[in-house]
Amino acid sequence: MLDKSIKPSSIVRYLDEFVIGQEEAKKVLAVAVYSHYRKIEQSGNDDVEIAKSNVMLIGPSGTGKTLMCETLSKLIKVPFVTADATSLAQTRYVNEEIDAILQRLVDKADGDVSKAESGIVFIDEIDKLKAPQGQPRSISGESVQHALLKIMEGAPVKLGERQYIDTTNILFICGGAFIGLESIMSKTHGYGFISTSDADNQNILDRLNTRVKPTDLFEYGLIPEFTGRLPIIASFQDLSRAMLVRIMIEPRNSIYNQFREIFKNEGVELEIETKVFQQIAEIAYEYKTGARSLRGIFEEMITPILYVVPDQEDLRKVVVASLFTEPTFIRG
Ligand SMILES: Nc1ncnc2c1ncn2[C@@H]1O[C@H](COP(=O)(O)OP(=O)(O)OP(=O)(O)O)[C@@H](O)[C@H]1O
Ligand SMILES: [Mg+2]
Repeated sequence: MLDKSIKPSSIVRYLDEFVIGQEEAKKVLAVAVYSHYRKIEQSGNDDVEIAKSNVMLIGPSGTGKTLMCETLSKLIKVPFVTADATSLAQTRYVNEEIDAILQRLVDKADGDVSKAESGIVFIDEIDKLKAPQGQPRSISGESVQHALLKIMEGAPVKLGERQYIDTTNILFICGGAFIGLESIMSKTHGYGFISTSDADNQNILDRLNTRVKPTDLFEYGLIPEFTGRLPIIASFQDLSRAMLVRIMIEPRNSIYNQFREIFKNEGVELEIETKVFQQIAEIAYEYKTGARSLRGIFEEMITPILYVVPDQEDLRKVVVASLFTEPTFIRG
């Protein structure tokens, strides 16, 4: 089960080392995971049965949804598997695929089924289960949602010959970019019919108008029963230019740190000035793929340098001051 020393705040602190920004989503995810394991530990002792709260991560492409889940899985020592809804939607054997996901969870638990029964399943690209363009609903996507519904609810699933895995205490996290959801939201943000004379009503209105609602997801193309099993929604924000700069520099395994390491192995120090990161961020921002394009732009700059470095006698340091000027080679 979850390590006793792990608290929501320590989960967030750990995520902070790898994921820049997205504070709200970090908190929501941390509390959801923490509460989930507290609930399992206490089940049986309480008169009130606490319902499972699966989580939905929604936000633009390349803003850290998959990264956050993968980082989380490294911290908490519970069986954790990632599955991709796209491949679920493409197969004719949905139930077999789902069985295979649960089997992987058991493998992660070294064959211990009871351990796997309190694991976490992350299903990415869940928005791909929506209806294709122009069709109200997609048959395959919908049947995948129904199949997932069953295991999210909690059901005994047969694995192999004699083994069963009970999915009741498995936490499900779903993630998706939901491209176009914003326009659906702005369309349904017509709430205004409640009398706004008192403060409470205004608060309710504001709340309805800023959050992703289950009805928005329904209109997007997910079936209501499915969105109903994902009561917690964590929203990811667009990354600003400043955040893109921080992403290249700050995380433990940032691009900058990775390449400083590569240069160090050549016996050379790499120094890239802040301005360069700002230039890269500016270009990446225009690509509108979140942080995804940073690496490509960075590598395009660094490759010609890496090409010549091994040929340079007694090179000590390389300084890059701008994306558009030659780097300085310092010998010593
Ligand atoms: N908030 C962030 N902090 C640090 N790095 C990030 C962040 N967001 C994205 N990245 C970088 O961009 C890459 C792509 O991000 P990620 O795979 O998490 O995107 P996503 O939100 O899952 O997008 P998609 O909806 O397209 O799957 C990551 O591997 C990471 O290097
Ligand atoms: Mg992703």
